[in-house]
Amino acid sequence: MTFKNKVIYQIYPKSFLDTTGNGIGDLAGIIQKLPYLSQLGVDMLWLNPIYPSPQKDNGYDISNYLEVDSLFGGMGELERLIKEAKKHQIDIMFDMVLNHVSTEHEWFQKALAGDKKYQDYFILRDEPTDWVSKFGGNAWSKFGETDQYYLHLFDKTQADLNWRNEEVREELVTVVNFWLEKGIRGLRFDVINVIGKDEVLQNNEHNDGKAEYTDKPITHDYLKELSRNSFGKYDDTITVGEMSSTTIENCVLYTQPERNELSMTFNFHHLKVDYANKEKWTIADFDFEELKELFHSWGETMSEQNGWNALFWNNHDQPRALNRFVDVKHFRETGAKMLAASIHLSRGTPFIYMGEEIGMVNPEFDSIDQYVDVESLNAFNELLETGKTEAEVLNIIKEKSRDNSRTPMQWNGDCYSGFSTGTPWLQVADNYSEINVEKELTEGSIFSFYQELIRLRKTMPLIAEGTYKGFEKKHSQVYGFIRTYQEQELLCLNNFYSEPTSIMIPDDFLEGTILVDNYSNTVLAKEQVLQPYQTLAILV
Ligand code: GLC
Repeated sequence: MTFKNKVIYQIYPKSFLDTTGNGIGDLAGIIQKLPYLSQLGVDMLWLNPIYPSPQKDNGYDISNYLEVDSLFGGMGELERLIKEAKKHQIDIMFDMVLNHVSTEHEWFQKALAGDKKYQDYFILRDEPTDWVSKFGGNAWSKFGETDQYYLHLFDKTQADLNWRNEEVREELVTVVNFWLEKGIRGLRFDVINVIGKDEVLQNNEHNDGKAEYTDKPITHDYLKELSRNSFGKYDDTITVGEMSSTTIENCVLYTQPERNELSMTFNFHHLKVDYANKEKWTIADFDFEELKELFHSWGETMSEQNGWNALFWNNHDQPRALNRFVDVKHFRETGAKMLAASIHLSRGTPFIYMGEEIGMVNPEFDSIDQYVDVESLNAFNELLETGKTEAEVLNIIKEKSRDNSRTPMQWNGDCYSGFSTGTPWLQVADNYSEINVEKELTEGSIFSFYQELIRLRKTMPLIAEGTYKGFEKKHSQVYGFIRTYQEQELLCLNNFYSEPTSIMIPDDFLEGTILVDNYSNTVLAKEQVLQPYQTLAILV
């Protein structure tokens, strides 16, 4: 099946729509909004985890892989969602968190109780290494009352599974097949490139162990095996692997169709271009040179070697891209469209994160009490310990917290933005009376721009399947590329700045037609002027 003309929409279920008034979004809420999603034109909905979970990491700490948490409406409601979505030609993508389980999962509990079989499901050592967990603190915690330690690359309530144990891999095949049999047709594999750990784990100079567990050759074997025993049997299934600190070479290998690993990969290099010294908890302007260089090298290499990228600006782990890459005060609408076109016209599968299609921005919380994410709260304390003032630390959290994108969806100008009648689990952004779906559909122009981009991908093989080549790579303001398919070519130009600029257009494109533009009345010229945040795509 070709997935190349499809567009995927990501829903953070806790924050989408609450139909019960308990302040937490639910599956009935998603069902209610299927007509809206269908109007947008998306093909698949990726739902962040909805399994039973103590919610220490918002569902990425799973305590039962084979259930739907009653918090979201339970299994019956999921079955109804799958069925109702089908009526709109929409499929459901599940989040498969197979690197770790909650320490409340039965397997970990049995291991703690002394069951040797289950102890071998985890990574236990007599001596911990000095690795730092991705959420701060040491990556090893004491294993119950024993003298051993268990590995957790994330929170201490998320114990890493031992993929070297064949029984673990068999259990996980059962999990994946269970959901496929339910009718789930998309699988998003959480941090899947860290499942293959070395046998000997050691201290190292970076205190992170990344080299001992990232993109190991054995991970490719595990993925092939998983595919063979589960999703590879269904040719209408789309898979995407979330890759932490990965390389192009590995992503080519993960996604070349003949290797039977995954359909596509997420990587995050382009969302680190505004980190100072590669550190997340810093504030810096984005480095446009680096951004372009990443887009071009990934775009071209994947194109030449037949790999496939997942394309995205936002997700539940990232602050809103509009705040990072656009002068959002003055150019929210224009900038939102430029960012959208710069990936929707590119080669790869675009993902839209809920609210992006109406130009949602960071909530600008002003007190640490408004944040709930474990990563932000840990960072807050750690940053204070480095000697920064509380105001400085709060400023950083404000820019960088994952809660920025997790605030409730803004449906209308009613109390709690129409998300819920009760107090939301995470505060609604104050700007909801300005930015909401109802307003966007009547007076805005971002939603309809997304609709058009999605329609183009569905109707033009050039956009879905064309090759990618960088254009004018040295330009100081414009990110440009050329897509080619048979006799057709598309030149896509994106001005990433609030000042106008100009760029020379090759002669053959001067005869072309404007396919996409976020300004009106543009006239093509040899020396083409691009307005602030203008996106312009010319077809020949
Ligand atoms: C991924 C998820 C993130 C989660 C982490 C641990 O990065 O996207 O939300 O905290 O994995 O499961």
